[in-house]
Amino acid sequence: MTYNDTFLRACRREPVETLPVWYMRQAGRYDPEYRAIKETHSLLDICRKPDLAAEVTMMPVKKLGVDAAILYSDIMNPVASLGVDFDIVKNVGPVIADPIRTKADVDRLRPIDVDKDLPHIMETIRILGRELTVPLITFAGAPFTIASYLIEGKPSKSYIRTKQMMYSEPHVWHALMEKLGDMVITYLQAQIASGAKAVQLFDSWVGALAPQDFRAFVLPVITRIFRELSHLPQPKIYFPGVASGELLPYLAELQADVIGLDWRVPIAEGRRRIGPRFAVQGNLDPYVLTAPMSVIEAHAKAIIDEGCAQPGYVFNLGHGLFPEASLEKLRELTAFVHEYSRKVLAG
Ligand code: CP3
Repeated sequence: MTYNDTFLRACRREPVETLPVWYMRQAGRYDPEYRAIKETHSLLDICRKPDLAAEVTMMPVKKLGVDAAILYSDIMNPVASLGVDFDIVKNVGPVIADPIRTKADVDRLRPIDVDKDLPHIMETIRILGRELTVPLITFAGAPFTIASYLIEGKPSKSYIRTKQMMYSEPHVWHALMEKLGDMVITYLQAQIASGAKAVQLFDSWVGALAPQDFRAFVLPVITRIFRELSHLPQPKIYFPGVASGELLPYLAELQADVIGLDWRVPIAEGRRRIGPRFAVQGNLDPYVLTAPMSVIEAHAKAIIDEGCAQPGYVFNLGHGLFPEASLEKLRELTAFVHEYSRKVLAG
């Protein structure tokens, strides 16, 4: 089988014949085969078995016909190597036994040791490099998003303790951002060395910040992460998560290649806000997938029309897939994006 590099070309803003498609959280509970595996394995069990993790990564590629694979893992995986115990609790998310709250807690965090603590992840990436005929995207959680779990101890809606640290003890906050920045850089470099074809930095919850606070408290570390990776040719994606539209103008100088948009910002407006240097990825509201196929296609069509207006567009959702999504509709949507965009791009 020939290698499908449409996704990589779109990331580099090169011309494509059809739009590439992948879905955030494309390996997951909407798939009965995945749910069956989950009956006997936790997420972390799967991650520790490279053959199984590779198989789960490939399932959506085979079933949906997407143009990229995303490594089956979680943003929390490298956190154990910092010296923080965590678990992923069913229907809750990441839970930390001893949250990070003080300067002493931050000082205790160790630099991550990929060879010692994360060799199974690198092995999964190497297996996928041999087996896939589409590019493999690997990822890390961004410092703010990881910090929100470390500080709150569990998923939060208000980020009250996170903001408390940020506003009340900025030196502790910045020390934490720097340590998490180091973690991200080491981890993404190792993933690329193991064969990742593109990397995505998930900052899922940073849209909780006012734009000026994003600029003061988070943008410096994001800037450093992309600067330190900028010599590597693999495309780099920054996903500033949900409700991030007002942050977009601050991203204009990042040394990233692609910016992920959520559904609150139209593609053309997102492009205007970030400026001409980037490809964009997104941004169908995932819950549109609950509608009949004709409604889903109408929404996709509007996004595709804007996306095709200039090179550098990757079709995706505005956030991750949810367990109630339909595999059959996802397969149809993928085929629709390919067919319809082929016509639009042919002029
Ligand atoms: O298919 C893929 O996208 C790759 C796998 C992947 C997972 N997590 C597996 C997973 C990816 C890319 C992630 C990233 C991740 N993890 C993010 C960023 C993306 C986003 O959605 O914003 C975040 C915030 C996390 C933290 C996390 N992990 C949460 C909040 C949860 C609970 C979600 C829930 O609905 O239960 C998890 C668990 C998790 N990670 C699941 C999966 C498939 C669901 C539970 C499971 O199947 O065991």
